Amino acid sequence: MDYASALCRLKEYKQEHLLRYYDELPQDKREILLGEIEKLDFSPLESIGREGERKVGNLTPADALGAEEIAKNRQKYEEVGLSAIKSGKAAAVLLAGGQGSRLGFSGPKGMYKIGIDRDLSIFACQMENIKQVASKAGYNFHLFIMTSTINDACTREFFAEKGYFGYDKSKIHFFVQDLTPACDFDGKVLLSEKHLPALVPNGNGGWYVSLMKSSSGEIISKEGIEWLNVYGVDNVLQRICDPVFLGATILAGVNCSSKVVAKSCPEENVGVLCKEDGAPTVIEYTELKDEQRYARDEKGKLIFDAGVILNYLFSVKKLEEIGNASLPYHIARKKVECIKDGARFIPDKPNAYKFELLAVDLVKLMGNCLAFEVEREREFAPVKNATGVDSVETARALLIKNGVEL
Ligand code: UTP
Repeated sequence: MDYASALCRLKEYKQEHLLRYYDELPQDKREILLGEIEKLDFSPLESIGREGERKVGNLTPADALGAEEIAKNRQKYEEVGLSAIKSGKAAAVLLAGGQGSRLGFSGPKGMYKIGIDRDLSIFACQMENIKQVASKAGYNFHLFIMTSTINDACTREFFAEKGYFGYDKSKIHFFVQDLTPACDFDGKVLLSEKHLPALVPNGNGGWYVSLMKSSSGEIISKEGIEWLNVYGVDNVLQRICDPVFLGATILAGVNCSSKVVAKSCPEENVGVLCKEDGAPTVIEYTELKDEQRYARDEKGKLIFDAGVILNYLFSVKKLEEIGNASLPYHIARKKVECIKDGARFIPDKPNAYKFELLAVDLVKLMGNCLAFEVEREREFAPVKNATGVDSVETARALLIKNGVEL
């Protein structure tokens, strides 16, 4: 693309400022910039100003398996789950493409050292669990790891350096998620360098499309994998391909299931799995009306209390049916380093809109989703912030409670 065509394209989207430093760039960087402008997808920016537009439909509680019922049927569920793993029908998908800006750690979040006296990373904690399950099932299931172009090389190097944490290297596959532009609060795309528009990971909801576009897609089809356990990197008590969860899901005959924890209080800031006009959905606590948020059943349990912990099982068959459906972009206010007034700007508070596809929007398309209740203290130790709520400190305390040496 030449300069005139680039300017013309930018005018259409009111983004001419991206050429602000063009004159001072050397020729090779000018070409890179023009190439980037040609490729830029401005469509996510159309969601600006539409955030408040969503009308919430009729909400009812999710179909759920409570902790008591799970305990009663544990053995049966586990046998079914282990047999599915052993026959290669289950695989795991780790969502590790995020930037972890709240944690304030510059590397991939999984590399964060959660250990105190020993070299224990978040990845290591999760791989430990994977090895336990694989050993119980007598089979090393596939693990697909989603990274972004920003953290891909670093993540791969870390796994290699750690000897793949003692897991079968041939079963670990990396794939890269797509990027979207980040813009300021006036809708102007930021520059990460004078010749580069700021591109950031497009949220965790693009995992299926990115996975199937990559060479891993072929492994899934060729090996007849039927279930994908999708989980987030930021829970150090995450249980991966949990056979009890998998068995319960298979026996329930559903397309999708989600591990959930009972909300700690009505105001807890966690998404709640429920049904909206009969279809599964995850609703933000702010979207619940007071009479829903505080509603309790005869036993005093909150009616809308299935807090999601980013650990889902998806049926591959159903994903294949809906795979190409487009998901909406959500806007998040985040800190994004950029060029401002000709110099590098490192924000200390959110300065940008990021446009994110969310995994929960895929859940909505699955037709049904079973809530599988687990014990918070044993399975949910999120690492979102450096201190305070859902932080390194709270996660360490929970690890210690679960007998993990730090
Ligand atoms: P978060 O919503 O916490 O986002 O991700 P984040 O980018 O990691 O962190 P903050 O908000 O900037 O502090 C939840 C999960 O989704 C993954 C993350 O790696 C984490 O496992 N994720 C998030 C992706 O894989 N890609 C993304 O684009 C965003």
